[in-house]
Amino acid sequence: MQSREPFTLTGLFGHPVGHSRSPHMHNAAFSAKGVPYLYMAFDIQPDQIGAAVAGIRALGMRGVNVTIPYKVDVIPYLDRITPEAELIGAVNTIVNENGELIGHNTDGNGYVRSLLEETNISLPDAHVLVLGAGGAARAVAVALAMRGAQSVMVANRTREKGDQLIESLSSICPARSLSTDEIPDLIGLVQLVINTTSLGMYPSTQEVPIDPGLLREGQVVSDLIYNPRETRLLREAKQRGAIVHSGLGMFIYQGAEAFSLWTGLEAPVEVMRKTVEELL
Ligand code: ATR
Repeated sequence: MQSREPFTLTGLFGHPVGHSRSPHMHNAAFSAKGVPYLYMAFDIQPDQIGAAVAGIRALGMRGVNVTIPYKVDVIPYLDRITPEAELIGAVNTIVNENGELIGHNTDGNGYVRSLLEETNISLPDAHVLVLGAGGAARAVAVALAMRGAQSVMVANRTREKGDQLIESLSSICPARSLSTDEIPDLIGLVQLVINTTSLGMYPSTQEVPIDPGLLREGQVVSDLIYNPRETRLLREAKQRGAIVHSGLGMFIYQGAEAFSLWTGLEAPVEVMRKTVEELL
């Protein structure tokens, strides 16, 4: 960094944050672009999250990413949130615009950008099946619906949570909640299957969210998990001739979108990807 200006501070609010790859990824990106920004991870105690958000304004930070468990809890402390964050019901990026704190959600957009980059899917032609209905599922399902997916089905172990997500989606696109028993009858009709559950994540790498025998040739199968890089679901999907998409791209592009919101610049995505890959 050649600039002699004072650094602009950004960072991550979460608990815990010790294993996050975001500081390395963002600091590498700031360096590559030559912008005098710094990114630090802050481990915030649950009773301090309101004070931490007030600190963004007090310290003149440009913004922060927000991660587990605060993506919902930060909302009451912000001045406003985007319509997409409102529909998702969670914020993962805060931008400080001259003292006004604005909540965004870049997870969904980041997911869609990486999906379009890494697969040949055409969203207007895609019927989508989302496995799971937690925070990540909400971000991905809302983003796909907003960007024109033909229809979205959600299958979740706890049916009521799937029903709630469908309520948010149905104003945007045809949407339906399924019980997990209905998956075998309907999965053949969809072009895109997405695992948003933690089934298959390290160290339980033998788990799968559905029977991989249900997947078919040409289907796009996407897994938000990126540790391992290739889950058992993706490995078996590939053996059946499916096109696979791993969760690493979503992580990189949610960061890239945050980078652009803070700096106004296009993010150096390849530098960010290489930095994260070296850490994995
Ligand atoms: P995230 O923010 O990563 O989405 P989350 O909000 O805790 O995390 O959501 C986890 C999702 O994985 C939920 O859909 C959860 O199903 P329930 O709503 O029934 O809890 C799903 N999930 C987690 N473990 C699961 C398991 N063993 N079998 C099936 N689904 C599971």
